Amino acid sequence: MRGYPFWIVFVAVTLAAGPLHAEVKNTCVTCHEEQKDEDPDLAAPVFDWQTSIHFENGISCSDCHGGNPRAEDEDVAMSEEAGFVGAPDPEEVPDFCGKCHSAVRDNYMQSAHAEALLEDESGPSCVDCHTAHKQQKVSLDLINEDLCSQCHDYDQAAKLKEAMRSMDQDLTLMDHRVERLFREGLDVESEQKALFALRNRAHRLTHVLDLDRILSELGAVRADLGALDKRVQEGEQVVQNRRRLGTVMILFFLIGALLAWMYHRELMREAHESQH
Ligand code: HEC
Ligand code: HEC
Ligand code: HEC
Ligand code: HEC
Ligand code: HEC
Repeated sequence: MRGYPFWIVFVAVTLAAGPLHAEVKNTCVTCHEEQKDEDPDLAAPVFDWQTSIHFENGISCSDCHGGNPRAEDEDVAMSEEAGFVGAPDPEEVPDFCGKCHSAVRDNYMQSAHAEALLEDESGPSCVDCHTAHKQQKVSLDLINEDLCSQCHDYDQAAKLKEAMRSMDQDLTLMDHRVERLFREGLDVESEQKALFALRNRAHRLTHVLDLDRILSELGAVRADLGALDKRVQEGEQVVQNRRRLGTVMILFFLIGALLAWMYHRELMREAHESQH
C-alpha cells in the first residue's frame, strides 16, 4: 500500500465495507416497524417479537414466515419465489412451528387438542398457549386457570399440572444428590446424562394431555429414577466411607502426636532427673 495516500485507502476500505454493512439490515423488521402509524397491526409483531425468546436466539421473521429479508421491495421480499408463506391458518400452525419444534409437534398431534383443532378449530393451536410473537421460556406455570379454563373446566388441567409438579420435585431432589457427589469429586457423568434424559422424557408428556397415559409413563420414569437412586446410593456410600476413613486417619494422627509428645516429655524428665 506504500505510495497510496492514507485517505485513498480509507475511502476504498469504507466503500468495500459499505455493502457488507447494508446486508445486516433486515427489511422485514424495518419496513414493518415503519408501518406503526398507518397500520399498527402490521408493526405490532415487531415489538412483540423483540421481547421473545426467538429474538434472543436470533430467530427472525423470515425464519418463520419465509421471504427475503434483504429485499427492499415488499413484492420481492414477500414473494412466493422467496418462499414467503405469510400468516398461517390455525390448522397450519402446528407444522409451521413444527419445522423447528418437531418433537413437540409430534406429541401435540397425539392430543385431544390437535384432534379438536383439525376437526372444527375448537382446540388450541401452539399460538393460543404460546402466542404468535411473544413466546417466552416455559415452565409449568403456563398451566393456569386463566389460560386453561377458556374452553373447559380447569379440573383435568390441574391434575396434569400436579402430576408433572410432583415428578419435577423428585427429579430436582435427585439432581441435588448427584450434584453433591460431583462436588465430592466422584465421576457422575452417566448419572447426569440419565437424569437429563428422564427430565426430557417426563416433560415431553405435557403436550400429549392424555392423563391415563401420562400417569402410566410417569410411573415408568419413576421406575428408572429408582434404578438411578440405587447407583447414587452407592456413590453416597463411597463418600461416606471416605469420610469415615478420613476421620479414622485424623484420630490415628492425633493419638500418634499425643504419644510422641508424652514420650518426649518423659525423656526430658528423665534427662532432668539424671542431672541431679
Ligand atoms: C417494504 C415493506 C415491507 C417489507 C420489506 C416486508 N413487508 Fe410484510 N407486509 C407489508 C405490508 C404493507 C403488509 C400488508 C399488506 C400485504 O399483505 O401485502 C405486509 C404483510 C405481511 C404479513 C401478513 C400477511 C398475511 O398473510 O396476512 C406477514 C406475515 C409479513 N408481512 C411478513 C413479512 C416478512 C417475513 C418480511 C421479510 C421477508 C416482510 N414481511 C417484508 C410490508 C412489508
Ligand atoms: C416464531 C415464529 C414467528 C416469528 C419469528 C414471526 N412470526 Fe409473524 N406470525 C407467526 C404466526 C404463527 C402468525 C399467525 C398468528 C395467528 O394466527 O394468530 C403470524 C402472523 C403475522 C402477521 C399477521 C398479523 C398478525 O399479527 O396476526 C404479521 C403481519 C406478521 N406475523 C409479521 C411478522 C414480522 C414482521 C415478524 C418479525 C418481526 C414476525 N412476524 C415474526 C409466527 C411468527
Ligand atoms: C394447551 C396449551 C399448549 C399448546 C396447545 C401447546 N403448548 Fe407448548 N407448552 C405448553 C406448556 C404448559 C409447556 C410447559 C411444559 C413443561 O414445563 O413441561 C409447553 C412447553 C413447550 C416448549 C418447551 C419445552 C418442550 O416441551 O420442549 C416448546 C418448544 C413448546 N411448548 C412449543 C409448542 C408448539 C410448537 C406447539 C404446537 C405444536 C405447542 N407448544 C402447543 C402448553 C401448550
Ligand atoms: C426457525 C426455527 C423456529 C421456529 C419456526 C419456531 N421456533 Fe420456537 N424456538 C426456536 C429456538 C431456536 C428456540 C430457543 C432455543 C430453545 O429453547 O429450543 C425456541 C424457543 C421456543 C420456546 C421456549 C422453549 C423453552 O425452552 O422454554 C417456545 C415456547 C417456542 N419456541 C414456541 C414456538 C412456537 C409457538 C412457534 C410457532 C409459532 C415456534 N416456536 C417456531 C426455534 C424456532
Ligand atoms: C381454545 C380452547 C382450549 C384451551 C385454551 C385449552 N383447551 Fe384443553 N381442550 C380443548 C378441547 C376442545 C378439548 C377436547 C374436548 C374436551 O375434552 O373438552 C380439550 C381437552 C383437554 C384435556 C382432556 C384430554 C383427554 O385426552 O381427555 C385436557 C387434560 C386439557 N384439555 C388440558 C388443557 C390445558 C392444561 C390447557 C391450558 C394449558 C388447555 N387444555 C387449554 C380446548 C381447549
